[in-house]
Amino acid sequence: MSPAGKNGAFEERSLALVLLGAPASGKGTQGQRLADALKIPKISTGDMLRAARDAGSELGKLADGIMTAGKLVPDDLMIRLVDERLSLPDVRHGFILDGFPRTLPQARALDELLDRRGSELSGAICIDLPRELLLERATLRRTDVRTGQIYHLKYNPPPDSAELVHRDDDREETVRKRLDAYDTMTAPLLPYYEGKKLLRRVDGAGTPAEVGARIERVVAQLAGGSAPLVSAAAQSPAGTAGGRADED
Ligand code: AP5
Repeated sequence: MSPAGKNGAFEERSLALVLLGAPASGKGTQGQRLADALKIPKISTGDMLRAARDAGSELGKLADGIMTAGKLVPDDLMIRLVDERLSLPDVRHGFILDGFPRTLPQARALDELLDRRGSELSGAICIDLPRELLLERATLRRTDVRTGQIYHLKYNPPPDSAELVHRDDDREETVRKRLDAYDTMTAPLLPYYEGKKLLRRVDGAGTPAEVGARIERVVAQLAGGSAPLVSAAAQSPAGTAGGRADED
């Protein structure tokens, strides 16, 4: 049973969650599990950029080279992308951000975006995993292009029917660059969210189900504990609703 089912908190009060963690730590896998359990969207900026690239948009063309080089797309583009995404109606019952924020300016911008919508972050969950496991998880990752399902050749083998792609940025040399970018640009978010008492760290070792159970426990605490929750009403499609319905 999902944490929502146990305490019922998500029925009335929505969660605005950020998933942090190095490349291939399991954010996409766990974000999808959580999104399914909570019935709220998982918003992956990496997926959005790959979709833009596949569609051949200007953003996609720009992002393509940056991603393949293992670097980060400029903050202003990412902030605009997320601002637009958070204006869609499906986030009104909550959302899980996977891959955003990735820099301190993005984290500050997210606070502002939510504040403008009369809401705030419920929690930032960081999935911790040692570097050697990150490398193995990234280089053996495969994705089914038709379903978007993420597989791993060793730990979560795909069915024969899957139509697999190997991400360009999952070559070992690029993964190492992405890990370096994480250490330099994204790791400073941990003290940022710790200072706001929003950070929860989860051991990412073990099976997806084991890690998922740890995350569910943390989310249940966030839902029932002292961390602020956004109300469904505060997340209007136009992003204009003011006030928080969750002030204790
Ligand atoms: P993005 O797509 O966000 O990549 P990432 O953060 O590097 O994360 P990954 O997708 O690589 O991994 P994950 O943590 O989701 O792990 P997964 O669940 O797949 O970003 C790509 C690029 O876009 C960036 O490099 C950057 O250029 C750009 N970008 C995106 N957002 C940006 C932003 N905000 N600002 C600037 N630039 C941005 O798992 C990995 C593998 O492990 C899979 O094969 C999976 O099956 C397996 N696995 C998962 N869990 C387990 C487990 N418990 N046991 C065994 N195997 C497991």
